[in-house]
Amino acid sequence: EARKAGAGASVLVTGGAGYIGTHTVLRLLEKGYAVAVVDNFHNSVPEALDRVRLIAGPALSARLVFIPGDLKSKDDMEKVFAAKRYDAVIHFAGLKAVGESVAHPQMYYENNVAGTMNLYAAMTKYGCNKIVFSSSATVYGQPEKTPCVEDSKLSALNPYGTTKLVLENYFRQVQAADPELRVILLRYFNPIGAHRSGDIGEDPRGIPNNLLPYIQQVAVGRRPELNVYGDDYPTRDGTAIRDYIHVVDLADGHIAALEKLFATPDIGCVAYNLGTGCGTTVLEVVKAFEEASGKKIPIKICPRRPGDCTEVYASTEKAKKELGWSARFGIEDMCRDQWNWARKNPYGYSGDADEKN
Ligand code: NAD
Ligand code: WQD
Repeated sequence: EARKAGAGASVLVTGGAGYIGTHTVLRLLEKGYAVAVVDNFHNSVPEALDRVRLIAGPALSARLVFIPGDLKSKDDMEKVFAAKRYDAVIHFAGLKAVGESVAHPQMYYENNVAGTMNLYAAMTKYGCNKIVFSSSATVYGQPEKTPCVEDSKLSALNPYGTTKLVLENYFRQVQAADPELRVILLRYFNPIGAHRSGDIGEDPRGIPNNLLPYIQQVAVGRRPELNVYGDDYPTRDGTAIRDYIHVVDLADGHIAALEKLFATPDIGCVAYNLGTGCGTTVLEVVKAFEEASGKKIPIKICPRRPGDCTEVYASTEKAKKELGWSARFGIEDMCRDQWNWARKNPYGYSGDADEKN
């Protein structure tokens, strides 16, 4: 494989113990990067990084270090950058539960917004000038038209979404004042699935908010049925349409973004969608999962969930053209790998049924 710009460089991954983080850390190691993860395990467990080491093997794992730390602490961020030089940062650390953000907006601003400000302050102080930031399709609000294109008008529907919108604007503004800074904002659509091995995957605490973790828990017998939120949307089967993307494709999108940052000194601050460009309904997901798992997923039709939109899917042209990246996996692959993870880890990383239900 040709050596790409940046390969061999050292990358700090915030939130690297989380769902998307673990998959991306693994890819970085496989591509020859040296990786440091900073995480406070607010929504993850040390076992997740042990699993990454297991998949990567001893040689690549020697290039992975873990630093306990909290982005809310200026001091923690200073110490991270004072101890070692990083060529770039991939910034996943954040809280992401929409409902929780409505109940606890202060917590979301402190963690996501203030945390990111602490991170950037330490980066600039120690001369690190490249960052990939986890944004979200949530910044399209209720899209006026689909597919969502990057230069659409942005809006937020809840405090979580507002933190992403604020941080996108923050990065545009600090970059404008600091031309050396190179920023890529990645707007993820709906990441699902797991690494092919089934050894890493999404392991939410408590009752899952998102569709696939919920379906997965029904499939392994932890919950009796899936609540389908609305079957009266103006879509082909009445259920809402989203752009589900395999988490391994997403991880590859981060490698492409990083390579772009290394190769493009004058990139400024640019946003890219990471989606497949394909819309799938809730009932189509259920069917694909049933086929992948051989399990029946009982459903109950419920009222629409407040704040949900009819149809959200990505325009993928910009990422294809400028990053040379596009998704490779379809919904069948995503459900197959999600089920493999579920089957091998029905109670997640801890394996403990009592702790989880
Ligand atoms: P996750 O919760 O699995 O991972 C986030 C990680 O960040 C966790 O390991 C958590 O412990 C850590 N973290 C949170 N706050 C921290 C802090 N203050 N200091 C140190 N570590 C901290 O979530 P994920 O699904 O992997 O999402 C990663 C990022 O992508 C988030 O910023 C999220 O908002 C964004 N995103 C996720 C989705 C999605 O559906 N999963 C969609 C769009 C955007
Ligand atoms: C998908 C579809 C539900 C659960 C959220 C955030 C977004 C982004 C991704 C971070 C919807 C339906 C769900 C259930 C259901 N995250 N559903 N029963 O809402 O598209 O996006 O995660 O940035 O910001 O808002 O994802 O997985 O919650 O829902 O019928 O038990 O499944 O109504 O149509 P969503 P989701």
